[in-house]
Amino acid sequence: MIIKVPSGTEPRPSEITPEQVYLNRRQFIQVAAATALTPALASAGYEGVEEYPAPAWLRQQTQAAEQWPASTDDTVTPFEYASRYNNFYEFGTGKGDPYKLARNFVTDPWSVVIDGEVGRPGRLSLEDLLKPHRLEERIYRLRCVEAWSMVIPWVGFPLNSLLKRFEPNSDARYVEFTTLYRPESMPGQRSAFKAIEYPYVEGLRLDEAMNDLAFMGVGMYGNTLPPQNGAPLRLVVPWKYGFKSIKSIVRIRLRRTMPQTTWVKSAPHEYGFYANVNPSVDHPRWSQKQERRLPSPWFRSNLIPTLPFNGYAEQVAALYQGMDLRKFF
Ligand code: MTE
Repeated sequence: MIIKVPSGTEPRPSEITPEQVYLNRRQFIQVAAATALTPALASAGYEGVEEYPAPAWLRQQTQAAEQWPASTDDTVTPFEYASRYNNFYEFGTGKGDPYKLARNFVTDPWSVVIDGEVGRPGRLSLEDLLKPHRLEERIYRLRCVEAWSMVIPWVGFPLNSLLKRFEPNSDARYVEFTTLYRPESMPGQRSAFKAIEYPYVEGLRLDEAMNDLAFMGVGMYGNTLPPQNGAPLRLVVPWKYGFKSIKSIVRIRLRRTMPQTTWVKSAPHEYGFYANVNPSVDHPRWSQKQERRLPSPWFRSNLIPTLPFNGYAEQVAALYQGMDLRKFF
């Protein structure tokens, strides 16, 4: 359902679909997927989804995405929170800024350069980049280093299937991702008091990038990505703090050496390259033992324990065997 969204940065309690409705929807989809001959579609029934400008072909594909069977059963965060409580410093440092200031951000046409240590470098339009991939919906937990979390149904495809197409060579050990640099449409980039250096850069070790959980997002809640969530193409790495999940990507570069990433450059004693969710290593300003699962009203905080690797240890812990995760935080 498409709604007209009132102004304001935080959703009002009256706007939020009751939790039970989300729970029922999830149960409905699970039953439907188990009994139907064809898989349930991602677009089946999210409430309160606001539609943002996107090419028709992309909207069609995101709406037709199939459900990934291993999605979390955690209650999905209402769309109003996921789309209005954001970190996207290119559009301001306040949580409500990206919702307000990214409204007219143009993401079509869009192209992505893939280069560095690959056999087949190139620049691809978004359409060509997506062409061979079948889109799926994956519901992942998103844990921010600031100790809040959400549960988001992303639409996209595994990063490994994209990287393989460009044939990483034997020198490729890391993957570097870069966000668009366009100060004329990104107010944070042209501010006199920049919070961080631009363009925003993130990275993964190649084996992390090839793990099946690492995901390229082109949609959420059964539709295309709102600009404030990183349209038209973002990374989603569910076992790492949210700052690794870089938005609005224009370049993917395979490298021999570890990339210099934005947050590590800005405060190396606070943010590490690995940034795996880890309740036993606190950030200097936030305990990481617990998290506020949004929505979390101030009068009834929804605090839950944080899990190692954000609950994805079974799938990813082996990547870090023998590493001291206090040192490589
Ligand atoms: N990507 C860019 N380019 N710029 C940013 O400021 N913020 C990161 C990450 N990706 C950020 C970014 C942080 S800190 C988080 S927690 C997530 O985006 C938030 O994603 P969401 O707003 O979709 O929840």
